[in-house]
Amino acid sequence: MKKIAVLTSGGDAPGMNACIRSIVRTSSHFGIDIYGIQYGYQGLIENNIKILSAKDVGNTIHIGGTILKTARSDDFFLKKGRDKAYKNLVSNNIDGLIILGGDGSLTGANIFFKENNFPVIGIPCTIDNDLYGTDYSIGFATARETIVDAVDKIRDTAASHERIFIIEVMGRESGFLALESGIASGAEMILVPEYETDLNSIISEIKKINTEKKSLIIIYAEGCKFGSLKKLTKSIKNKIDGSNVRYSVLGHIQRGGTAVPSDRILGTILGNKCVKYLLEGEVNKMVGLINNNTSIKPINEILKNKRGINKDLYEVSKIISNY
Ligand code: F6P
Repeated sequence: MKKIAVLTSGGDAPGMNACIRSIVRTSSHFGIDIYGIQYGYQGLIENNIKILSAKDVGNTIHIGGTILKTARSDDFFLKKGRDKAYKNLVSNNIDGLIILGGDGSLTGANIFFKENNFPVIGIPCTIDNDLYGTDYSIGFATARETIVDAVDKIRDTAASHERIFIIEVMGRESGFLALESGIASGAEMILVPEYETDLNSIISEIKKINTEKKSLIIIYAEGCKFGSLKKLTKSIKNKIDGSNVRYSVLGHIQRGGTAVPSDRILGTILGNKCVKYLLEGEVNKMVGLINNNTSIKPINEILKNKRGINKDLYEVSKIISNY
């Protein structure tokens, strides 16, 4: 292998830049030319590609988002788009492609590999942390920190007004962010899609806590199926006499910000190992970190095994939260 390309795809995640920096510098170390593709798969289809030097990635380790930009490409869902992407890789003499992203991005990589037999390798980057094959995905730790900081602030006003606050956090299909940030912020209730509950159970649980404590924090993962948060807020208000309920959607603030050290370190390790694995001939695989050791697993296996939240941690949260 003489030329490798890297792209970031799907939702950005803090720590992606630390990872890109590590990929670029590790490639330079091994005498490999490294190319950055802008705007993910869409940029690959549009041949938006430029060579990167070790110096180009200076002063980027801490920055949130992705210096390569990202996109959710509709064209890459189509065979026509993927064919164009393949043609561009070939015409630029690229020998291998590194993909930083979540499950959607890896699904794209898997299809692309199967159609073209082109060497691809993935690195888990998603604040949702829902990928199998790694204990943590790049971006999760920073997003968790952002949420805890926001909840601490909301708790001050919730306590002052004796309000019940429902706080929606990201996690399209998973409750990792909700569970871990809920535990760290001392939330009284944590609602996650992995353990569905119903309105009546929520109400009776609130009533139990609410007799003495008038201010509660409920962390609500966006993947929960209660319809709108506005409706849930109204239902609680209607069913609990004298309750003072508000909701807050944290939204995209959770995706941005300076990457915390653990995301920078994870990005650096996975970026470095990924280049090494690719040079050793590992293809259509994802590099992760399990029990502090790097692991490499077929993307097929990653996609087949959905990762759920830690049941023990969930049980712990149930025991210690509602007082
Ligand atoms: O995949 C990460 C994520 O932040 C999810 O938690 C969220 O549901 C989704 O992306 C939002 O995506 P977009 O920014 O495209 O609306």
